[in-house]
Amino acid sequence: MPKKDDIKIFKGLENIYICETSISFIDGKEGKLVYRGIPVEVLAEKSTYEEVVFFLWFGHLPRKDELEEFEDEMKSARKLDEEMKDMIEKFKTSHPMDLLRTIVSIMGLSNSEKKKSDEEKALEIISKVPTAVAYHHRISMGEKPLEPSDELDHASNFYYMMTGRSPDEKISRIMNATLILHAEQGLNASTFSAIVISSTLSDLYSAITGAVGALKGPLHGGANEKVMELVEKIGKPENVESEIEKMIAQKHRIPGFGHRIYKTFDPRYRILKRYSKEMVRNDEDERYYRIVERMEEEVLKKLSGKGIFPNVDLYSGILYKFLGFDRRFYTAVFAVARLAGWIAHIFEYSKMNKIIRPCGYYVGPMDVEYKPLEERE
Ligand code: CMC
Repeated sequence: MPKKDDIKIFKGLENIYICETSISFIDGKEGKLVYRGIPVEVLAEKSTYEEVVFFLWFGHLPRKDELEEFEDEMKSARKLDEEMKDMIEKFKTSHPMDLLRTIVSIMGLSNSEKKKSDEEKALEIISKVPTAVAYHHRISMGEKPLEPSDELDHASNFYYMMTGRSPDEKISRIMNATLILHAEQGLNASTFSAIVISSTLSDLYSAITGAVGALKGPLHGGANEKVMELVEKIGKPENVESEIEKMIAQKHRIPGFGHRIYKTFDPRYRILKRYSKEMVRNDEDERYYRIVERMEEEVLKKLSGKGIFPNVDLYSGILYKFLGFDRRFYTAVFAVARLAGWIAHIFEYSKMNKIIRPCGYYVGPMDVEYKPLEERE
């Protein structure tokens, strides 16, 4: 065993590069994010989710004919089979992320034996998962689930299936933008989990199932639900200061703030904040918006010196609330978007595959005597 002084432990794999990638780049000092060279703000404003998925997966912006074909393929794979609907109905009281993990796993049961390419499987996953999440959302809200609409693009159709409302142009833009902003973010914990699983040459469904499990955690994608829980607990803007002070004094992590890479404002946060503000429709929305804004002010005042700034999850929760999504589903909405990045990285890493296998430095005892059961105290 090497001496402790001869090795370096990188807790949380911080600052460790495991591969080359051309999918996205984050400048954590400047607060910039590009997908294959294009700033995420530009894509959020101008592109559609389908176009971004194609771009992330295949490396170039699609030509018109390529995009149309890709959109048609995604549309034709949206519908759920009856078995899946029955399963969602059966487990409808489960947390959406737990059910989503199971949904992806079950998709793998019915597809793993079929001779489909990974590209076809990926297309099916990214097309069907939003339908499954929306199906669950509708029944858990006591509403009739809806079939996907062929008239609508991916993001707009997701909104329609979640809420039962046809999106106007503004909502379609917001839906496309939010899915684009959440589509990719380098080797974060869930994407890394997907890569670890796929590096064993396991299947796509297993990798995505693992990624969903990783995203669920409150330090990762689960933070958007936690932000809203905190906002509801705080109740009114006047309570923000004391609650934030209390959390800092108790060394609690405030959800919606902090990031491993960004040590300044996350560019996605700015756009989501603007959309949340535009979506405020009544006094109650205003109250929610003001609480989050006050949280931002207080945390910046107290923690920005430590490099803690608002992250993507700070405003996504209230945006989803204003769009009509139930709080328990916020992380599942994140997952619907992030499928794009997970799959892009699985495809990219598999071309240069090396099984991922780090080391843990052993600090336990050696030469321990095995005591028979009856002699143990
Ligand atoms: N609130 C209060 N203190 C914080 C926070 C926070 N949100 N984030 C970090 N810190 C403190 C942390 O306690 C530590 O302080 P000290 O040096 O005194 O011990 C210092 O900042 C450095 O933190 P770290 O643990 O080394 O940072 P990390 O890179 O390991 O963790 C993080 C990153 C995202 C897990 C963390 O910032 C956090 O827990 N944030 C809250 C949860 C959250 O919003 N997660 C979503 C992240 S963005 C979207 C996504 O990835 O899905």
